[in-house]
This record gives sequence, C-alpha cells and structure tokens, in this order.
Amino acid sequence: MPDSPIGIFDSGVGGLTVLKALRELLPAENLIYFGDTARVPYGTKSHRTIIRYSLQNTKLLQRFRVKMVVVACNTSSAHALEILKEEFPFPVIGVVEPGAKEAVKASRSGRIGVIGTEATVRSEAYRKAIISLDPFCQVFQKACPLFVPLIEEGWLEDEITEKVAERYLGELLKEEIDTLVLGCTHYPLIKEVLSRVCGGVKLVDSAGAVAREVERLLPAKNSGKRGSVRILVSDKTERFERIAKMIMEEEVEIEEVEIDKE
Ligand code: DGL
Repeated sequence: MPDSPIGIFDSGVGGLTVLKALRELLPAENLIYFGDTARVPYGTKSHRTIIRYSLQNTKLLQRFRVKMVVVACNTSSAHALEILKEEFPFPVIGVVEPGAKEAVKASRSGRIGVIGTEATVRSEAYRKAIISLDPFCQVFQKACPLFVPLIEEGWLEDEITEKVAERYLGELLKEEIDTLVLGCTHYPLIKEVLSRVCGGVKLVDSAGAVAREVERLLPAKNSGKRGSVRILVSDKTERFERIAKMIMEEEVEIEEVEIDKE
C-alpha cells in the first residue's frame, strides 16, 4: 500500500541520520523508526547476536505493516542483510553498499579509509564492497569502539571526542587516504570533529546515498500531504529524546515498545 510506512532501524540514535535524510528526500512518506536503545551498542557483539537482534527488530517493524525496511546500522547491514532479505517478504536495504559506492565515486587516489564498529570492520564488508566496485582501490580500516558511547552520551562537539578521534585516525591518515567512509551511522553526528582532525580528506557518509536508493526501489510511493514520523525505542530515556530532537529539528513523539524475543 502506498501509505504503508517505511521501517528503519538502528541500535540507537545513529540511524536517525538516515531517517533525517529520508524525511528530506521523501517528505510524503510515512516513516517508522526503531532504535534498540536497551541493547546498544551492537558493534561489540558477536555475529550470532547481531543476526538475532536484526531479525527481532525487523519483525517488530513488520507488525506495523511496513512496505520496506532500511537497516540504518552498518553493523547489522554487514552481518545480517542477506538473512533479512531472505526472511522477509518486503525489500530490505542496507547502508554498506551505498556508502561503498559513494566512496569509490569520491576517491581520486583509490586510497580509501573506513572507520566503523569492531563488528563492521571484522566483517570486511566495506573492503569487499569497495574492491568489487573497483579492484584497484586500497582499503585501510580502523575500528573506533569509543565513538558510539561518546555519541550516545551526546559529546558531539567535545575536546575528549576530538582527542579520541586524533588517536584513532592518526594511523589511517599516515596511509595518505584521500577519502574516509564513516562506516557507522552514528559517526555523521561528529562530522565537524572528524573533518577538523582529517584536514582535506573527503568524508563520506551513506545517509544521502541510502535515501536515494530507497527512492529508486520504493514499491509504491505515497503521494500528497506530508507523511508522519514515529520513533520507537526499546528503552526511552531523556538522553535519547534530547538527541533525537536535535537531529530531527522537529517535534517528535517517542514511544517505548517491547521487542518480541522469539
Ligand atoms: N550505528 C550503528 C552502525 O552503523 C551501530 C553502532 C553500535 O551500536 O555499535 O554500525
């Protein structure tokens, strides 16, 4: 049905950067977001657990009769996308492929850095996606596990965050990368800090590219008036509400829901 919502999920606030891009590109669509705030972070979890959580989150969105699901989490996309595509009757879109495409387009030297959670880096999903698009590219990866807790804490423009970024990115910058993929949907929230630390390196995040991919693949477009946005979380906190309002720049209602753990 054209007015069925598009479902989007992430482990926490990170996927809101994708929700925002979807809201801007497809204002008529009804959007329903789930942030698994009770179980964030995913990036330190095992392959098995990431798959289990991703299946449960998609089932939860299915209850709302979604016409498509966007996995707005690199960690889930890297580990569970293929399984989700097989398990559910609607299209499921991940963030890794669109991010890799943007990076290959943006890079002139072919020396591409990727930062992400431990689980995303361990999966090698970005390296595989980039190399399959252009085998001449060289990929340098670095897991940045402290970024997600700093961002969930709301320390977006903070000197501690900047120090942590300097430490993580130092090694990648030595490799003379010209492009850096923000391979975690949380990271665009500290883009200012990252671009200060990275100097002239191009920063690529997949939010815009994912929104364009959704537009291209959407089975039935909603027309007419402005669509609605619903935000669901597995643990409603004042901190999530504060960051969500800041990102979305509009009043949003946040509801706590129970995940079906089957
Ligand atoms: N925002 C997520 C990602 O893109 C997950 C971060 C986490 O929960 O560790 O990978």
